[in-house]
Amino acid sequence: MAIPATASAPEAEIVRRLRAVGCVFAEDEARLLLEAAADHDDHGELEHLVARRVAGEPLEQVLGWAEFAGLRIRVLPGVFVPRRRTEFLATEAARLVARSALAVDGSPAGVPLVVDLCCGAGAIGAAIADAAGPDRIELVAADLDPVAVHAARSNLEALGARVFEGDLFDALPADLRGRIDVLAVNAPYVPSDAIAMMPPEARDHERRMALDGGGDGLDVHRRVAASARSWLAPGGALLIETSEAQAPVAAAFFAEGGLIARVVRDDEADATVVIGAAPHRSLA
Ligand SMILES: C[S@@+](CC[C@H](N)C(=O)[O-])C[C@H]1O[C@@H](n2cnc3c(N)ncnc32)[C@H](O)[C@@H]1O
Repeated sequence: MAIPATASAPEAEIVRRLRAVGCVFAEDEARLLLEAAADHDDHGELEHLVARRVAGEPLEQVLGWAEFAGLRIRVLPGVFVPRRRTEFLATEAARLVARSALAVDGSPAGVPLVVDLCCGAGAIGAAIADAAGPDRIELVAADLDPVAVHAARSNLEALGARVFEGDLFDALPADLRGRIDVLAVNAPYVPSDAIAMMPPEARDHERRMALDGGGDGLDVHRRVAASARSWLAPGGALLIETSEAQAPVAAAFFAEGGLIARVVRDDEADATVVIGAAPHRSLA
C-alpha cells in the first residue's frame, strides 16, 4: 500500500521501516511511536523507540503500555503483555464480583476480596476494579517475577491494591485464607514443546516463566486448583484461562480440588475460562 499523501516525512519513513520488518499495522504503530516520543524532550527518543520496534520488541513494551478492557496498563520490558483475549476472564470475574457483593436477599454483603494471582502487570485486577467502581473491592495481586510485581504496583497501588512477590499462594498474607471471593488467574499455559513455535515477540521478549506451563501446559493450574479451596470463601470462585483443548482436563482437577467446575467460552475472542465454585459450606 502507498504511504498516505498526508503522512509527514518522518512518519512516512517510520512506516517504511516498520513495513520492511513485517509490521502489519505500520501506520497505526508509527502514529503511536510518534506520540510516545512527543512526551520526551530528548530528540533521540523517537529513533530509540523505532529501533527497538524494528529489532522485534513488542509494540506495547516499546510504548510502555498496553490497552486492556479500555484501560492503559503500564508494561515494562520483559513483562508479559496482557492479551485482549484475557478481557473475557476479567469480564467473567467482574460479573462474579458483582454477585458476591450482594447477600441472598439482594442487600449489600460487604466488600468482596479479589485476588489476581500470577498478575503480571496487573491488567486483570485493574479491569475488575474498574468494572466494580472506586473502593468497591479489596484487591490483592501477586507474581513470582519481581519486574512484573514492579509493573503491577505501578498499575494497582493507586487503586488501593496490595501487590506481593512470591510463588503462588505463598506470596499471600495468611489472613486471606478462607476469605477470597474471586480468585482470577491467568497463569502460563503454553506446553513446553510449543514455546519454540510462538512468535519471536513472545519467545524472545517475555520471560519463559510467563509462558511455559510444563509438559501439557497445566502445571501451574494443577497447583492452583489443588490449594484454591482452602483460600476461597464459602461460595467463592476460581477462574483460570486455558486453551479450549485444555479446559476439560483443567475442569477435572478443579473437581479433584473440591470445586464445582464449569467451562465458559467466547469463540470470537478465542477465549476459554474454567470456573470453579467453592461449596457454600465452609471447610472449617
Ligand atoms: C501468562 S502471564 C499472565 C500475566 C497476567 N495475569 C496477564 O494476564 O497479563 C503468567 C504470569 O504468571 C507468573 N508466574 C509464573 N509462575 C508463577 C508462580 N509459580 N507464582 C506466581 N506467579 C507466577 C509469571 O511471572 C507471569 O507474570
